Amino acid sequence: MSRARVPGPPSAPKVLGGKLPRVDGPLKVSGQATYTSDVSLPGMLYAVPVGSTIASGRIVSIDAGAARKLPGVRAVYYRGNLKPFFRSAPAQGFSGMIDERRPPFEDDVVRYYGQYVAVAVAQTFEQARAAAEAVRVRYATEKHNVDPQLVADKPLATESERGDPEAAFQSAPVKIDQTYVTPTEVHNPIELHATVAAWEDGKVTLYETSQAVMNHRDVLYQMLGVPKENVRVVSHFLGSGFGGKLWPWGHSILAAGVAREVGAPVKLVVTRQSMFQTVGQRPRTQQRFRVGANRDGKLVSIHHEYLNQTSILDDYTEGCGEATPFLYSVPNLRVASAISRANIGTPTAMRGPGAVPGLFAMESALDELAVALQMDPIELRRRNEPQQDESRKVPFSSRHLLECMQVGAEKFGWARRDPRVGAMKRDGLTLGWGMAACTWGAMRSDAQASVEIGREGTATVTTATQDIGTGTYTVLALVAAEATGIPVEKIDVRLGDTVLPPGPISGGSWATASVIPAVSSAARAAVRSLLTMATSGPSAPFAGAKPGDLQLVNGRVSRKSDPSSDVPLGEVLARANVGAAVGSGQSGTTFGSEEARKYSLHSFGAQFAEVTWQPETARLRVSRFVSVIDAGRMINPKPARNQIEGAVVMGIGMALFEEAHYDRRYGAPINNNLADYIMATNADAPPIDVTFLDYPDKVLNELGARGVGEIGLAGTAAAITSAVYHATGVRVRELPVRIEDLLVGG
Ligand code: MOS
Repeated sequence: MSRARVPGPPSAPKVLGGKLPRVDGPLKVSGQATYTSDVSLPGMLYAVPVGSTIASGRIVSIDAGAARKLPGVRAVYYRGNLKPFFRSAPAQGFSGMIDERRPPFEDDVVRYYGQYVAVAVAQTFEQARAAAEAVRVRYATEKHNVDPQLVADKPLATESERGDPEAAFQSAPVKIDQTYVTPTEVHNPIELHATVAAWEDGKVTLYETSQAVMNHRDVLYQMLGVPKENVRVVSHFLGSGFGGKLWPWGHSILAAGVAREVGAPVKLVVTRQSMFQTVGQRPRTQQRFRVGANRDGKLVSIHHEYLNQTSILDDYTEGCGEATPFLYSVPNLRVASAISRANIGTPTAMRGPGAVPGLFAMESALDELAVALQMDPIELRRRNEPQQDESRKVPFSSRHLLECMQVGAEKFGWARRDPRVGAMKRDGLTLGWGMAACTWGAMRSDAQASVEIGREGTATVTTATQDIGTGTYTVLALVAAEATGIPVEKIDVRLGDTVLPPGPISGGSWATASVIPAVSSAARAAVRSLLTMATSGPSAPFAGAKPGDLQLVNGRVSRKSDPSSDVPLGEVLARANVGAAVGSGQSGTTFGSEEARKYSLHSFGAQFAEVTWQPETARLRVSRFVSVIDAGRMINPKPARNQIEGAVVMGIGMALFEEAHYDRRYGAPINNNLADYIMATNADAPPIDVTFLDYPDKVLNELGARGVGEIGLAGTAAAITSAVYHATGVRVRELPVRIEDLLVGG
């Protein structure tokens, strides 16, 4: 197809910072995007695991006789008739990460309800499910613990300390000493976790719901006991993950092992019910937060002591103290933590792990302090703005928290706030206005990328990171377009496959910041290669010119001094008898890096919530939200805004609805479905006003981009509960807010 020639500007078109819709959008809305559970292979069988029906004890016997006789059933596997799996070695950096380290069937001990004890394999999903239900397991039951009251398993370990926080707290004229509780929250991406495993000649391809294909391979080859190069992991599209799909879980190893044993491809899709126990959750936290201040609002002491629940075997730590040491200026501080064990599935990272529950505690305590001081909460924070990261005594690479609060206050109309409880009304409703600050780390990890410029005037970008629904395909197309001068619609981005150049996890909000430098340097290398071909060799169109005298604009090569001298890039390649101009690029991690030693790397933001409260009907709504985010340069503001909006909706869920309950009798997650586990829906989402300050953070990468996947959830719940306090006078310290919390005192 020939394209109309559009005269290009003399330099590369500036495509960044625009509003490009997702390049993968049409594939998704037309149903052509293939998700893991859509993968169907010839001869494929279905596996359905059997989950234990006790939370603690031992397996005495497994009787699969009846199950094996059912129609279509090919096999039933359990400990003893399936080749055992190895454990993987402890992670190095972000390679080898796995939260539940015990492989399925390693021993006969049951440590949580729903733990895999067997797996049925059949020709259809229905047959496999019937067989799984027909497996008879006898247990020796022991006492389990799913108590919501957390108890430290050992004395609290200090994470960060300075000054003398105890003495400073004792002598502080104004004190807050409260305990904040956040519940177990379950990632509920629309897409169920799934694995399709296919072996051929001792090599396995795993179609995975994975936020980290490289890590998945690095774990699975060890657990399967095969060479690393024999495992390929593919994840082209993800129906979201929120952290739950970062690291491998038991079902993936089971699917791979079963497929190897049965000699056919196997599909295993985790049920929604099982997703409440076998693929991680944000654990319950219990945080005592003490803050002491002078009467002018200057903080003198912070103590943050927290516990998080974890499983019997794995020491998952929800790093609630992540933001505490640096967010405000305070001379005396201690953060300390311990874990509390229960018979539950192993927890894992969930959007903004650590900082999100941690900031609920800290920002709630700051709001309580503002009330005690009769001081505006923004003014309190302004008086405690640090000049540097006081925990590490290094400057921030780029921090504009005060401006976030100022811009947010203007957008929200904060100056009109009457601080008296219940004093503000609108349309017969009581209004509550609350705010909170937020922060999330800004990081990069190692990334490699390749860019090929082909004869059709197209460019192909490859890297083994993955797009988890956040817009990575789109951002990389934009970056490659910017660096090559090839129109964005002619750029093909290929992600989510371990055969591609190694790329980062889609987590920690750092995929974009990590991959951009690698892709732009690969793109520049490919352009250099092309321009060199344009100048060298007898049939080169610009023979004798220097590559530096040429430019590539809109897919055409020309002299910078004479843009009308242009030839299509395909002609340059054809005359050189080369298929494609190839460039590769890489970028390095900030973990342990020079810039991370010299700077404190974080994004910041301010969240403003309005709630309406109708005491007559006990109706509470979040009616308005303003979020101002300082996350560096926005490469593509449209999906970036989507990230913040989605995170704010998730924050409304965290504040008002979400909580997984474990049945004390059986230890089972009892509201393990989307009817009983309440999440915020569109009807709960108010207008959300998102503003990005757009200060490039050049310490992090050349474009100055940080990440926006997680920060929108940070501080959001505290802004909402502070608004609830302002409306009702009730301070809710244990999430989610329940209507009955608000009915006290009428
Ligand atoms: Mo995020 S919890 O790093 O997917």
